Amino acid sequence: MLDQIARIADAGAAEVAAAATLDELRAFETRLLGKKSELNDLKAKLGGLQPDERRTVGLAFNDARARLEGAVESRRAALATAHRAARLDAERLDLTEVVAGRRLGHLHLVTQALERLEDVFVGLGFTVAEGPEVETDWRNFGALNFPPGHPARDMYDTLYVDYGEPGATLLRTHTSPVQVRVMTSQPPPIYSVMPGRVFRQDTADATHLPVFHQIEGLVIDRDITFAHLAGTIDAFTKAFFGGGFASRLRPSYFPFTEPSAEFDIIRPDGTFLELGGCGMVHPNVLANCGLDPEEWQGFAFGFGIDRLAITRFGVDDMRDLITNDVRFLRQF
Ligand code: DAH
Repeated sequence: MLDQIARIADAGAAEVAAAATLDELRAFETRLLGKKSELNDLKAKLGGLQPDERRTVGLAFNDARARLEGAVESRRAALATAHRAARLDAERLDLTEVVAGRRLGHLHLVTQALERLEDVFVGLGFTVAEGPEVETDWRNFGALNFPPGHPARDMYDTLYVDYGEPGATLLRTHTSPVQVRVMTSQPPPIYSVMPGRVFRQDTADATHLPVFHQIEGLVIDRDITFAHLAGTIDAFTKAFFGGGFASRLRPSYFPFTEPSAEFDIIRPDGTFLELGGCGMVHPNVLANCGLDPEEWQGFAFGFGIDRLAITRFGVDDMRDLITNDVRFLRQF
């Protein structure tokens, strides 16, 4: 009888270890350990044995059961792991945008403009930096030479965030605070552009959105002059718009640059596109960022990307950019 029990346990354990599926394993389990199992049939004959023989055989029964139960459990765990892995593999989604060099769907026209701008500036030797959309009043205004209560703050319809001291945290109104982040986190020379989303308390109309995009440029080095600024704007204009385009600067005012200018793009037909602001970085801004204005100079510029994108693609209402109407988006 002991031999028989050992044979059942050996054969059963081998079967269980080879079970190919959880269903098959469940069937083996019922057959080997259930009420109508061979082990149970044998056990019914236990009563006919001598008491000491009964004890030995009884222990062998228990061992055989325990061994088979252990085999079932470990096979079940192995099959469950394999099953989960197979399922994850089958349900896997390919979230990459590029398949064999081809984009699936396509990019929003603002994203297209942004990527081209980055390409052009990287081609001119700039690096790309980014900053957060929620900013401190200090980086958005204070460090940029807007003292508290300065009238120039009124140029920006600022959205404040209920965090920290009242008025200390806001949604950045321009990408210029990223200049402060770059200057305070790395030593000059700096040649960077900083694209991003900006926010102003504004009602959307054909030419304004309360959430829009800007790109900022910052150069900090030794012996940087206004001529470098004008030359960079012109090189950018020709690289981005084409050789037939030119740029011009008009005097303006920004607290963070001195002198300041606005720049326009001159189209081949002689018409203008007013694009953005620029100037020589104000010595107070350099000092606020820990740079010695006697040693370092620089220039900065900034402009909106959304308006550039709609001009380039001939869209006449900015709100079309954000309606997510796929028929509109497909055109670009
Ligand atoms: N931050 C300005 C705005 O949002 C644009 C700007 C003007 C950026 C002059 C500059 C600059 O870097 O030098 O209106």
